[in-house]
Amino acid sequence: MKVIAHRGSSQVAPENTYPAIRRAIQDHVDGIEIDVQLTKDQELVVIHDEWLNRTTNGKGFVFNTTSAQIKKLDAGSWFNKKYKGTTVPLLEEVLEWVKPYSLELHIELKNNLLPYKGMEEKVIRILNQHNLEKKAVLSSFRRESLEICRKIHPTIRTGYLCWSTLLPLLEQSEWDYLHLDSIHPHISLLDHEVTLLKNMGYRIYPYVIQRKHELKKCLRYQVDGIFTGSPNKAKQIIRETTT
Ligand code: G3P
Ligand code: MG
Repeated sequence: MKVIAHRGSSQVAPENTYPAIRRAIQDHVDGIEIDVQLTKDQELVVIHDEWLNRTTNGKGFVFNTTSAQIKKLDAGSWFNKKYKGTTVPLLEEVLEWVKPYSLELHIELKNNLLPYKGMEEKVIRILNQHNLEKKAVLSSFRRESLEICRKIHPTIRTGYLCWSTLLPLLEQSEWDYLHLDSIHPHISLLDHEVTLLKNMGYRIYPYVIQRKHELKKCLRYQVDGIFTGSPNKAKQIIRETTT
């Protein structure tokens, strides 16, 4: 079972920033998940929310702020004063940081609330420029976005994020054309559908695993990977449970 750092090792360092990603690498994770949004000047920045207020000292929406303005913000102090001066990374920066390591980079296209026209093409172009397409898994809650990814790139790995139900996915003929690599259900959806989906050939990566009993459930369902903000803790529990 792969351990994927959710927004980096986000329980121990500020999410979606260099310290969280560095910590994930030190934690020897199998993968790192990040979220991308588009700025006013159409740059891809790594931040979870559509607005800046929660994780930076800025205010307002990402789509209404330029990348230069966002780069001036502090994205670390809200988590802990010792991270003061940490910035919101561009996707390109994260690609450079992870390039030397053998890990999956899960890039969540945060286009479920705002459609961010052209985001898919931009992400795939940047991955291509960095020769990192094979390392990436593109995920989204928006099915249409994964359809666009598939049209642009016939083989890039894609994952569909689900928070309400997995049932529509059992109608295989409706989804075949997307060639999804994986399904990423909310942990609350881990039920017998997961076994059926696994038998249909999908990899299953539930999010977000915070507690021991959730992790044990993931082990029982033999999921392929988990998203967790505490990879170290998760790995320790896996070791204790499986040895
Ligand atoms: O990729 C799984 C997870 O990141 C989806 O939810 O809101 O944490 O981005 P969220
Ligand atoms: Mg995410």
